[in-house]
Amino acid sequence: MTALPILPAGFRFGASTASYQIEGAVDEDGRGPSIWDTFTREPGRIRNGDTGDVAIDHYHRVEGDLDLLAELGIHDYRFSIAWSRILPQGTGAVEPRGLAFYDRLVDGLLARGIRPVPTLYHWDLPQALEDRGGWLSRDTAEALGDYVGVVVERLGDRVRDWITLNEMSVQTLYGYALTDHAPGRGLGFGALPAAHHQLLAHGHAVARLREAGAERVGVAQQHFPVVPASESMDDLVAAGTFQAITNWLFADPILAGRYPEELRPLIPLDDAQLAADLELISAPLDFYGVNYYEPMLVEAPREGTDYAGAAEVDLPEGLPFALLPYPSEERTDFGWAIAPGQLTAILRELRERYPNLPPVVITEGGASFHDGPGPDGAVHDARRIAYLDAHLRAVADAVAAGVDVRGYYTWSAFDNFEWAAGNDERFGLVYVDYATQERIRKDSFAWYRDVITAQPSDR
Ligand code: BGC
Repeated sequence: MTALPILPAGFRFGASTASYQIEGAVDEDGRGPSIWDTFTREPGRIRNGDTGDVAIDHYHRVEGDLDLLAELGIHDYRFSIAWSRILPQGTGAVEPRGLAFYDRLVDGLLARGIRPVPTLYHWDLPQALEDRGGWLSRDTAEALGDYVGVVVERLGDRVRDWITLNEMSVQTLYGYALTDHAPGRGLGFGALPAAHHQLLAHGHAVARLREAGAERVGVAQQHFPVVPASESMDDLVAAGTFQAITNWLFADPILAGRYPEELRPLIPLDDAQLAADLELISAPLDFYGVNYYEPMLVEAPREGTDYAGAAEVDLPEGLPFALLPYPSEERTDFGWAIAPGQLTAILRELRERYPNLPPVVITEGGASFHDGPGPDGAVHDARRIAYLDAHLRAVADAVAAGVDVRGYYTWSAFDNFEWAAGNDERFGLVYVDYATQERIRKDSFAWYRDVITAQPSDR
């Protein structure tokens, strides 16, 4: 496949990971438990009963992993910091060994010429905070601000780029509205305070980072393009409602300083408090991170239709929308539709909806294919190469259409613990043998490296 000399000079290539998905070492160096430690111990929550207890043992193998990233040639490495390594109880006492780990990680990246891009929160809430209400409690938003203050004080002399929270929509929907992710609350619309408090936490984080003189601050948001199943009024309304809940509920407050009108009545705050919160939440950003995987096809529920198992997410009955599989000839091994054109579409939609949209970075994009080592010992993941190629071209199309996209970070550098799906789903450019922790560069690793090398560079 040809390299891609189509992205603007200076475009930044990266790879992403997250603490609980790679680190392991959950009981070491004073780390406190997070909601994912609790959740993975509950029977039936995770496929095969897998946990992140060891994951890819990155905590102990960090030097070798950094060497692999250097060989990959990425400009930026997006990783996340585990709150409960820094503040084991979520608030209060700071664990110096936790800080020391990320200190070494940052130094190791810089020594290899890679820009560190830490995410301050990627779903692993300290269990101690969950016990006090988790994201349903406003105090958690303030606690996140204090934690960010501790981290930036230690790393802010070397880290220039920061991401506040990862995919607050997914944590709200899967963890609080449904039961698929930690903490598995299943509250339906009762989950809305979790959305507001994560948004507020983002606002506090931005304020703390600015106070500390951070150079570039952004957020990483999941954006599912929502496609109506037909042009009928009912389906358009159903898709619009779903769109508001999955996308605009989380993007409007940050990028436009308001909630979608139809959802405002569900936010239990008076106008003055809400206005003050939204001011904090909508502080200007230097970049807006978009995580893109696949679109959602939505229709108005048809009477007598059983939607159970139809799409990846099973929604409770009685909602004004239903999910269907997005029609696509090609799917990943996780069953997700491959639809690069929808990445271009959501980027254009964001630009149209938000006049103040900051430059965009694709903070995650990638696919799970199960390919493992063949008889020659190599991992021939041609489908991942085709996937990444198509999605980079989709980004180029968005750039050509006038969207200011500055980078693409593939999910993920390494195979890792894929939440409720456990270790079966493999998103990495590097294959990990979980029995031996051997790392094997997949074919896509060399391909990505070559694409990066071939780019015009102004660095
Ligand atoms: C998350 C990652 C996850 C990936 C693939 C994103 O929703 O941020 O943690 O592994 O998607 O499911």
